[in-house]
Amino acid sequence: MKDILKDIKERASLKGKTVVLPEGEDSRVVKAAAQTVSEGVSKIILLGNLQEIKNANPEVSLKGVTVIDPVSYEKTKDYAQMLFDIRKGKINKKTGAPEYETVEDAEKAILKDYTMYGALMLKAGDVDGMVSGACHSTANTLRPGLQVIKTAPGEKMVSAYFLMIAPPCGNKYCEDGCYIYADSGLVQNPTSEELAYIALSSAKSAEQVAGLTPRIAFISHSSKGSAKHADVTKVQDAVKLFKEIAPEYNADGELQFDAAIVPEVGASKAPGSTVAGHANVLVFPDLDTGNSNYKNTERLGGFMAIGPICQGLAMPINDLSRGCKTEDIVAAVAITVLQTK
Ligand SMILES: CC(C)(COP(=O)(O)OP(=O)(O)OC[C@H]1O[C@@H](n2cnc3c(N)ncnc32)[C@H](O)[C@@H]1OP(=O)(O)O)[C@@H](O)C(=O)NCCC(=O)NCCS
Repeated sequence: MKDILKDIKERASLKGKTVVLPEGEDSRVVKAAAQTVSEGVSKIILLGNLQEIKNANPEVSLKGVTVIDPVSYEKTKDYAQMLFDIRKGKINKKTGAPEYETVEDAEKAILKDYTMYGALMLKAGDVDGMVSGACHSTANTLRPGLQVIKTAPGEKMVSAYFLMIAPPCGNKYCEDGCYIYADSGLVQNPTSEELAYIALSSAKSAEQVAGLTPRIAFISHSSKGSAKHADVTKVQDAVKLFKEIAPEYNADGELQFDAAIVPEVGASKAPGSTVAGHANVLVFPDLDTGNSNYKNTERLGGFMAIGPICQGLAMPINDLSRGCKTEDIVAAVAITVLQTK
């Protein structure tokens, strides 16, 4: 079976892109910056103070890594102006006041929040993508992207998936060596329509990033009407809509998890289905299910979980789990590069 991660890194290295890592205060990120550059996966801009980063990571060679300190960088005022202009008229939900009263407010904010700073570098075209979240929550990592980069033209919404890579010894159900799990990171309680669009974005991601021919299962606690509940109806409606908007893709549902990936169970619970028992894109009904399933597969199944990877953003920004390892960060950078135009 092909080494999916090696393949992703090789394809990324051909694109010659630059990714910003805003969390220079995290040693895993600093090591990942060095490793990404030495493996030739992409060019890296690391945010932080060079001397502080060196002092905290004396064993890491930063050769080839560009370090930018937002406190003294010549473009910081331009980025602050950009944020002020983009968010003009927006109200802070917590305080009820404008998000930024002045450009100086915006400057203070980005000097406290390097993830927002990195998003503005991306918006300005100074980098091609951003990976963050090693030491910040998913919400705080994704919000700058949603606020500043926004949904790509032609896309309905932003959602997030995990690329689940089977352990080196393989997994008897995982025919392609990996699964796409969505939405496992962003959209909390999608409607039927949103589920259908999450599935569509996931199918495109499966092709673009993992090189898969998507077989999409809409997951539920019911298989083909075995249970009756509003939650089941939501998934059934999503399948119906998906088949209308994306008839070119092979999709089926609603299916229980085992009916989606175990051939014998799929054949018995959904006879005649070309997806049941062989799915490689799993679309979960809500974030509780999607998030718990990715962690379950990672911890009990020994899969490598890369993500949450955003789909539907106008420019690529990807999050990391706070429990991530250096290797996970390098992988997320490689995927980010593959999402660039
Ligand atoms: C991402 C998240 C933080 C956004 O929440 P929020 O900041 O309260 O969102 P808001 O509704 O205020 O939206 C902020 C902006 O993002 C936009 N937005 C939110 N969700 C979006 C989506 N799915 N697609 C596109 N845009 C979206 C809103 O339109 C809004 O834009 P605006 O400010 O320019 O008008 C929220 O969806 C979240 O917390 N998700 C779960 C993350 C998580 O904990 N995951 C589990 C761990 S992996």
